[in-house]
Amino acid sequence: MPAVSLDARLRQRLAALDAQGLRREMPEIRERQGVEYLLGRQRVVGFCSNDYLGLSQLVPSGTAPAGAASSRLICGDLDLHREAEQALAELAQQEDAVLFPSGFQLNVGVLASLMSPEDRVYSDELNHASMIDGLRLSRAPRTILPHLTPPPRDAPTGRGGIRWWVTESIFSMDGDGASQGALQNALDDGFCLYIDDAHGFGLHAGGQGWPQAHGVRPTLYIGTLSKALGCAGAFVAGSTTACDWIRTRARSFVFSTGTSPRVVESILEGLALLRGRAGDEARRRLRQNLEHLAKALRLPEVPIAPIVPIILGSNERAVAVATELLVRGWHVQAIRPPTVPLGAARLRLTLSATHEPEHIDGLVAALRDVLGSNHRELASSAPTP
Ligand SMILES: Cc1ncc(COP(=O)(O)O)c(C=O)c1O
Repeated sequence: MPAVSLDARLRQRLAALDAQGLRREMPEIRERQGVEYLLGRQRVVGFCSNDYLGLSQLVPSGTAPAGAASSRLICGDLDLHREAEQALAELAQQEDAVLFPSGFQLNVGVLASLMSPEDRVYSDELNHASMIDGLRLSRAPRTILPHLTPPPRDAPTGRGGIRWWVTESIFSMDGDGASQGALQNALDDGFCLYIDDAHGFGLHAGGQGWPQAHGVRPTLYIGTLSKALGCAGAFVAGSTTACDWIRTRARSFVFSTGTSPRVVESILEGLALLRGRAGDEARRRLRQNLEHLAKALRLPEVPIAPIVPIILGSNERAVAVATELLVRGWHVQAIRPPTVPLGAARLRLTLSATHEPEHIDGLVAALRDVLGSNHRELASSAPTP
């Protein structure tokens, strides 16, 4: 018998998290129809998914088998995987692409495989947890940059001669991002640029991501297929050599079963929509919704992405405001550390093409009701480009 039972220890730790307002629970969702669903017993309209174009509700028509049967490197590399990778590379305007079962799995494996202790890595302080974990595994020396600050132009190069800038195009919890000029300058100065475009991919003309729409060609481009495309998985796109290396050395690719063929089939169906007229129409509706929200919240400008944070500070306040909104029928999840920095708990409003103008008006009225008359938090929440 161990001196302390595991359950006793975990109960104690969970109680400590409870006391700090940091215990997480999974909201039980039923009968989802776009942004409307049952949460527990309550019918709500959601403003917290990443289903920006409303494509997650598609029921795939395909008949592909469920499993890839092994790692792609053993006997799990199918025509569907290759077809998807070719289409994704083309969309990303890169030579090649590698598909992963999830964005988290991708960042952990790809960053760890590419960056070595001889390199020097510059990483934004608000980068996603999967990027932080991948960089830790790489053991490359890191400089953590203040949010949205580019690395200094004369930043030292590691012994291996490579300097990396690792960043998101659109930060998932803040809805902001580094400027096109700063990213291009870094490329011109010889930095290797790793851009995670999880929240930009698919939202620009023809289904492109943020860098392609802004004329930036990163060294490695990451797109997730779980947000605007509404399915699951992610891809890294870059040179043929970089992709060959990733297929050979990224441990979360090599030692993991290939993405389910059924999922890849859905990805291909989603891609056809994303690139075509349906995608254009969904992007137009999303843009309209974003303009409507900006006006209703009296933001100084239309946000650059369908993510609008309302910073509330303490965990307790964020949870209390989210609870009050829920009582009124609006589901906006409170976001707390470690997803955001300590003292920066917030509501993260996200929009979808499937929201109706009345949904937005109703949410904003409820927010004004709950936050009181001065709306200070609303005014301070507009992300700047
Ligand atoms: C910037 C960023 N990268 C990676 C991921 C992980 O993607 P996935 O949900 O496909 O694991 C997310 C999603 O939360 C994200 O916001």
